[in-house]
Amino acid sequence: MDHKEGQYKVADLSQADAGRMRIEWAESRMPVLMKLREEYSQTKPFAGYKITGCLHVTKETAVLIETLQACGAEVAWSGCNPLSTNDEVAAALAEAGIQIYAWYGQNTEAFYWCIDRTIDKTPDTTLDDGADLIFRVHSAFPEKMADIIGGSEETTTGVHRLRAMAADGKLGYPVYAVNDAETKWDFDNVYGTGQSTLDGILRASSVLLAGKNFVVAGYGHCGRGVAMRAKGMGANVIVTEVKATAALKATLEGMRVMTMEEAARVGDIFVTATGMKDVIRGEHFITMKEGAIVCNTGHYDVELNLAELAELSTDARMIRDDNREYTLENGRKVYVLADGRLVNLAAAEGHPSEVMDMSFANQFQAHLALIKSHEAGEKLENTVIDLPEELDQEIAQMKLETMGLTLDRLTDEQIVYATDYSAGT
Ligand code: ADE
Repeated sequence: MDHKEGQYKVADLSQADAGRMRIEWAESRMPVLMKLREEYSQTKPFAGYKITGCLHVTKETAVLIETLQACGAEVAWSGCNPLSTNDEVAAALAEAGIQIYAWYGQNTEAFYWCIDRTIDKTPDTTLDDGADLIFRVHSAFPEKMADIIGGSEETTTGVHRLRAMAADGKLGYPVYAVNDAETKWDFDNVYGTGQSTLDGILRASSVLLAGKNFVVAGYGHCGRGVAMRAKGMGANVIVTEVKATAALKATLEGMRVMTMEEAARVGDIFVTATGMKDVIRGEHFITMKEGAIVCNTGHYDVELNLAELAELSTDARMIRDDNREYTLENGRKVYVLADGRLVNLAAAEGHPSEVMDMSFANQFQAHLALIKSHEAGEKLENTVIDLPEELDQEIAQMKLETMGLTLDRLTDEQIVYATDYSAGT
C-alpha cells in the first residue's frame, strides 16, 4: 500500500503510468465532459471550493475528477464500493495530486476510513454514488454540515434513500438528484448497465449466452437494459417483478414473467437489479439447476442472501477471478460472481466511457449550480432537487454534435401549429 498522510492512500503508485493511459482512453471517448473542461477551465468557477466525492474510482471518474480540478476545485475522493476501484487509475490520480483514498478489495473498516479521510478536508460540496458519503457526514461528522453548500447523488438507490431522509426532515443540506436527469437514467441505467453487466458476467465466466435461460430480477431501467442486451445475445430472458406495470412492460417486450420461486428452478444465469434485499435467498438457491450462475448488478450487495447460501453449502472455493463455486448439500454446484457486489464494476470496468460522458456532464452541472446559487446568496431548501429540464436538452445536443448528428428544425408554420388548439381534422 502507498500512503502519504493527508494526501493519498492507494494500492501501488508504480501503476500510475498504466492508469494514465486508461484515463487518456476514457478522455478520448468523453467529448461532452472534455468540452466542459475546456470551457470552464478558462474561468475556474470552482476556485476556492473543495469538492469531496465518493464514487467508483474508474477511468471515467478520473476524467470527472480532473475536470473539476481543472476548473479550480480542490478534490478529495474515495471509492463507493469495496470492489470497484481500479488500482491503476487510483495511482495515476494520486500522482496527479488528487487527494485520493481508494484501493480494490477493502473491508468495511477500510471503506469507511477512506470516506472519513475525505470528510476531514471539510468539503464545500459532496458528490455521491449510493449516498454513503452523505450518510457518513450526517452520522459521524454532523459538525461539518454547516460548511456544506450542497451535494449530488448519482444512483437510483441513493436518490430513493435521500428522498426518504428529506421526507423525514432529516436531510441536512440540498442534494441534486443527478440520477433523475433524463440524460442520466435513460442512457446510463439502460445502455450502460445493460452492456457492462453482460461484460462482467462474460469476464467472470466466459459462458455462451445464446440459448440460456437468463433471469433478470427487476424490470426498472437497469433490469430492462440487462434484459434487452441478453435477449440480443440470444438468451431466453425471464423477468421477475413485484410491480404490475413493470411486469406488463416486460411481457410486451417479449420477456417471460414468472416468480423467483419458478425462475429459480429453470434459470441458467441470474442477475438481480432491484435495489431490494434478499431477492435470491436460500429457498431459491436450493432449487437451482446444476451449474447455475448468480450475480447482482444493483448498488448494494444485499440482493443475494449469501449467508443463507453458505449455510446450505458443504464447500466453497474461488474457481477463477470473481467466480466462487458453492457446493450445495444436495450435491449441486452454484456459481456466484463478484461475491454479490455489482458485477459490472467488480468483474469488468463499469459502464463504457461514452455513456458516463453524459452522466458526469450532469454531475459537473449540478456542482456548478450549487456554487452559482451559493455565490448569488440563494439558499436552496434542504431537500432532493431535480436538475432543470433544459439542461438535459443541452447535454443531449452537445452529445449529438460530438457524434456528428444534426436535428431537424420546426418550420415557422409548425411552431404555430404546435400550440394551435383550434386545428382539427
Ligand atoms: N457506474 C457504473 N459504471 C461506472 C463507471 N464506468 N465509472 C463510474 N461509475 C460507474
